[in-house]
Amino acid sequence: MIGVNPFRPTAGAEPPQLIGRAGILDEFRYGLRIRSGAPGLLTIFTGARGIGKTVMLGEAEDAALTHGWMVVSETATRGFLGRIGEAMRAAAEEQGQGPAGRRITGIGAAGFSITTQLPPEQQAGWRQVGEKLLRQLDENGTGLVITLDEIHGADRDELAQLAASVQHYIRDGLPIALLFAGLPAAVSDLLNEGVATFLRRADRIDLHAAAIDEVENSFADIFAVWDTPLDPVLIRAAAESTGGYPFLIQLIGYHLWQVAESTDRPLGAEDVDLALSAAHRRNARVVIEAALSAVSPKDLDFLRAMAEDDIPATAADIGRRLGDKKNTVGNYRARLIAAGLIQPAGHGRVDFAIPGLREHLRTR
Ligand SMILES: Nc1ncnc2c1ncn2[C@@H]1O[C@H](COP(=O)(O)OP(=O)(O)O)[C@@H](O)[C@H]1O
Ligand SMILES: [Mg+2]
Repeated sequence: MIGVNPFRPTAGAEPPQLIGRAGILDEFRYGLRIRSGAPGLLTIFTGARGIGKTVMLGEAEDAALTHGWMVVSETATRGFLGRIGEAMRAAAEEQGQGPAGRRITGIGAAGFSITTQLPPEQQAGWRQVGEKLLRQLDENGTGLVITLDEIHGADRDELAQLAASVQHYIRDGLPIALLFAGLPAAVSDLLNEGVATFLRRADRIDLHAAAIDEVENSFADIFAVWDTPLDPVLIRAAAESTGGYPFLIQLIGYHLWQVAESTDRPLGAEDVDLALSAAHRRNARVVIEAALSAVSPKDLDFLRAMAEDDIPATAADIGRRLGDKKNTVGNYRARLIAAGLIQPAGHGRVDFAIPGLREHLRTR
């Protein structure tokens, strides 16, 4: 008997321990006390798939709720502006009836969300609704946090309208925070396009893999409840196998736990290998295949040419392997960076942005 598996290898699910994220929300928390115009109240989280962006938005939401703030949580699929407006309207109506500190999600498609681009009179409505709610919250000494996930796919018009309204609220000294999350290169494009210059002032927090030592400590801590302890050498091996990558941390922890559940004897190296390969297979299925499903055959050729190297490849190497001209290679490079599959690795080289992608490409 070792208890219920605490690992959560699912998109957006809160992990048993938040590894390698100390201090990241400090500025945001500080902003919650200032309530208006503090830099941390406008923040964008960027990072590869599975790095933990959605989880960070959730952490920020929890911090806000603890401070008594209201939270509207949305994903940037078509119509998000209307859904946010609808959530704010419902909240404004309810304000005064109950305590603040509520999370509102998935409010239905009525009213505001009929069209993507709000007609001028509804835009004014959106702004008034928000203002009313924010003034009520301000009187209570709290505020409103809007989180918007997957911002890389956002409709530019909707985003520009959201930014314009929020900027207006900030100018009025109203208590609002806006937190985004998205893939790094796509977010850079979005900011450079000048959709809303005001968003360029946001605090940009690029999330990276955690340090292996921290993963090791966390595994040791979590597995300490087992009746038969796991050999520290094997704990270290498991931690290294995660590469510090949050989704793999969850997958590997989850599969180790399952193997441990199935036996009473202490786990050996073969048991750990079994768990690791199951975890990596699932990572390939969930993250890699999902990411590859959106790429063209030409993109795939580019990626395969990259995978011939054990180290980050240069554009020249890739061009030579593909027999393509420099500018075509540059185009694919840019597209794949924007798609979050590869990332610049300095000196004109590119590396894979998802762990296991190189190995996966070699075996297909
Ligand atoms: N700091 C962390 N430490 C451990 N596990 C994490 C951490 N952040 C996220 N995870 C786990 O990683 C997985 C992916 O997180 P998610 O927030 O969905 O990533 P993203 O939104 O960047 O694709 C989830 O299973 C989550 O529980
Ligand atoms: Mg996410």
